[in-house]
Amino acid sequence: MKKLGILWIVLVLGVFALSACGGGGGEAKETRPTPPPEYAGKTNPYTTSDANVVAAGKTIYDQRCASCHGERGLGDGPAGQALDPHPGNLVELVKVAKDDYIFWRISEGGAMAPFNSSMPAQKGILTEDEIWQVVTYIKTFK
Ligand code: HEC
Repeated sequence: MKKLGILWIVLVLGVFALSACGGGGGEAKETRPTPPPEYAGKTNPYTTSDANVVAAGKTIYDQRCASCHGERGLGDGPAGQALDPHPGNLVELVKVAKDDYIFWRISEGGAMAPFNSSMPAQKGILTEDEIWQVVTYIKTFK
């Protein structure tokens, strides 16, 4: 009878462990915070089919972002390697994040909770229009 009892416990624990792992479904899910009111719902005036805008965004990105985020946004830029938190993987970002989030993060950078990172704010350095150009360019990352 004692043996049966142990078997029972093992079985219950097993079922519990299985159910704790399940339920995710494996889909990429957006877990980033929503932008504050002054950024929420802002819409990108451009699309990735605006070739001139994508080209302008690339010029800015290569100068101001690639050193940390890497040329293709993989987070593998030389200046980003030692940073903690590490530069985001922008390829994964653009699969789930909305434009208003991306615009907000580029504008305000990482000097705020919950990010607390060395991502430099671009507000006051780039114009709103230039920030949208970069947003549009990074949306071409695959
Ligand atoms: C000094 C290195 C550095 C530079 C330069 C830099 N970033 Fe970042 N960036 C980071 C780090 C570190 C993070 C991750 C932490 C965070 O979310 O703040 C980040 C995060 C981001 C995020 C949010 C990613 C996410 O997954 O939520 C975006 C968008 C972004 N950067 C875009 C840019 C763009 C566009 C530029 C150029 C205009 C740029 N960054 C320049 C370091 C940098």
